[in-house]
Amino acid sequence: MTLEEKIGQMTLYTSGWDVTGPTLNENYKEELKAGRVGALFNAHTVAYNTDLQKIAVEETRLGIPLLFGYDVIHGHRTIFPIPLAEACTWNMEIIKETARLSAKEAAASGLNWTFNPMVDISRDPRWGRVAEGSGEDPYLGSLIARARVQGYQGDDLSDPFTLMACVKHFAAYGAAQAGRDYHTVDMSDRVLRETYLPPYKAAIDAGVATVMTSFNEVDGVPASGNKYLLTEILRDEWGFDGFVVTDYTSINEMVPHGVVANEKEAAELAVNAGVDMDMQGSVFNDHLQKLVEEGKVEEKRIDEAVRKILEMKWRLGLFEDPYHYLDEAREKEVLFSKELMDHSLAVAKESIVLLKNDPVNSKKLLPVSKEVKSIALIGPLGDNQQDLLGTWHASGDAGKVVTVLQGLKNEFPDAKITYAQGAGFSGDDRKGFAEAVETARKADLVIMALGENYQQSGEAASRSEIGLPGVQQELLQAVHKTGKPVVALVMAGRPLTIEWIDESIPAVVNTWHLGTMAGQAIAEVLSGKYNPSGKLTMTFPRNVGQIPIFYNMKNTGRPFQAENKYTSKYIDVPNEPLYPFGYGLSYTTFTYNGLKLSKTEVTGNDSLEVEVTVENTGEYAGEEVVQLYIQDLVGSVTRPVKELKGFKKISLKPGESQVVKFTINPDDLKFYTRDMSFKAEPGDFMVTVGPNAAEGDTIKFSLK
Ligand code: GLC
Repeated sequence: MTLEEKIGQMTLYTSGWDVTGPTLNENYKEELKAGRVGALFNAHTVAYNTDLQKIAVEETRLGIPLLFGYDVIHGHRTIFPIPLAEACTWNMEIIKETARLSAKEAAASGLNWTFNPMVDISRDPRWGRVAEGSGEDPYLGSLIARARVQGYQGDDLSDPFTLMACVKHFAAYGAAQAGRDYHTVDMSDRVLRETYLPPYKAAIDAGVATVMTSFNEVDGVPASGNKYLLTEILRDEWGFDGFVVTDYTSINEMVPHGVVANEKEAAELAVNAGVDMDMQGSVFNDHLQKLVEEGKVEEKRIDEAVRKILEMKWRLGLFEDPYHYLDEAREKEVLFSKELMDHSLAVAKESIVLLKNDPVNSKKLLPVSKEVKSIALIGPLGDNQQDLLGTWHASGDAGKVVTVLQGLKNEFPDAKITYAQGAGFSGDDRKGFAEAVETARKADLVIMALGENYQQSGEAASRSEIGLPGVQQELLQAVHKTGKPVVALVMAGRPLTIEWIDESIPAVVNTWHLGTMAGQAIAEVLSGKYNPSGKLTMTFPRNVGQIPIFYNMKNTGRPFQAENKYTSKYIDVPNEPLYPFGYGLSYTTFTYNGLKLSKTEVTGNDSLEVEVTVENTGEYAGEEVVQLYIQDLVGSVTRPVKELKGFKKISLKPGESQVVKFTINPDDLKFYTRDMSFKAEPGDFMVTVGPNAAEGDTIKFSLK
């Protein structure tokens, strides 16, 4: 390979099909013919990619096949719930299955690489990209990262139904200041390692093939030029042996970051920090050859990068058969198959979180009786397909989405169902209010479908206020004034500040953006065909002023005391969130009793058994996520008031009970101590087992 051909393999360009960033190289096909492109993204369908692969294989000197990448974030053509919704299933098997099926459909469309899982921990719902992640907790986020990598990659990357995965965005992108996308990230090494790095490490340990650098700086150095992250941690500490690709022109952006004076210096900083592939920036193609000639970059570094890229192409089976992902018959058979649709419905139902279901005149509104005579469905998400796909829905087909209106008609065939949009997603147009109020007056039950459109979360979609957009809150209040029983569906890509809804509306269901089968899933939960089991993986604040707010916070030296003015609090809002991490109701009720430990003292490498008896004390069969938290009461540094260290999702029939068991291992007690060594320290620990981060029974043990 010539040096230019080697550098070509380190170059990734977007095709013109679906540009997901600010630039497009009109001449990417000429670059391809010149052997200056190793991979393309945003190109798909067998026909389109076959033409491009033919150029690479038949029209370049070496005929090295292309990689085809795409943002298959929660499905490709058939869309599943946004990742933040799916995380609320706490069900690793169903999450892994979503990734497997996403890979199957995307690979059948000629792709062999997805830019997922996005594993960025975030504690700030103003940041629009919380929609793509798994929430605020490193333990849960790590398990989900592993499940998704296993689902996408399977056991053999040459299987034409699997994709190379790409864990992103390395690192700590979710800690952007003020929740403003692309903003500065600055934190202690301890917080970086304890809170933000674990899910990336879990993906590496699961064998993820590629890593994507993030746009943000970390401790003053942009991730795409950060040797501490890309070489010292990723390679030297963690032993990562895949390749590192940047985010979209993130090398070029080190110039406005202000760590380099020009793009040539940016290319030098990036490749020497450990970047192997430049997404869309062209800076490797434009400058690396000169940098090698000037001795600023060793050709050995180029060879390392190219070897990793070529090895992945080999593992994908592309050298054996460059066209084995490109089979039109398979494409026709797999896209939108029943297997995909059935799974989309199943995982959507399990992602729904019941936030409130208080009785009205001593009768709960949910589940809705099949005898209901008339339902008024009101709100901009009621008869809506596009927005139910959610952010990053890739090439999802909106035309296939089951709307809430259609789902209700399917589930309540004997009811008279009327729809009124009432309001939009922005602005102050209240013209639709009168029709909506009139529609509500004529019905026995009102269902409000309120929330964000798909562009109000995701990339470059941070919001400074995170209530219902536009005048939807006023619409809800106008309908509420009719006195009709109201069920509120909250449908967004992030936690919303819905304190008035929580205070005023008797039944509240958080349905997120659920993808192709959204409307059917929502209707089957409302009818009781499926008893909701979702549990939040991100705290819901009462207002933006509480942010950042998360369950695994520190105690401080002046923890809140109602009777003492000089303690940590606000004078205008409680410290508690509206809904805590791990929260979610069911149509039935569960009790927890008999929490006990196998011993109250452990030493060295001892493990400890925990058990609790959970009983279904209601009248519906249901699922409960039993959660185990641990608090290290005294450490050489301050420790969180609790940390999730285990959970079990169980199913119980009415009256049935189950002894749920956990094992606490010595690794569960380790942390970065004052001298940054990762170990457990002797002392007392508090175990809490309960239905969410704010409730549960406690019991103590000691580590000697
Ligand atoms: C975007 C996103 C990244 C995505 C990439 C390619 O800017 O930050 O998540 O994978 O570009 O579309």
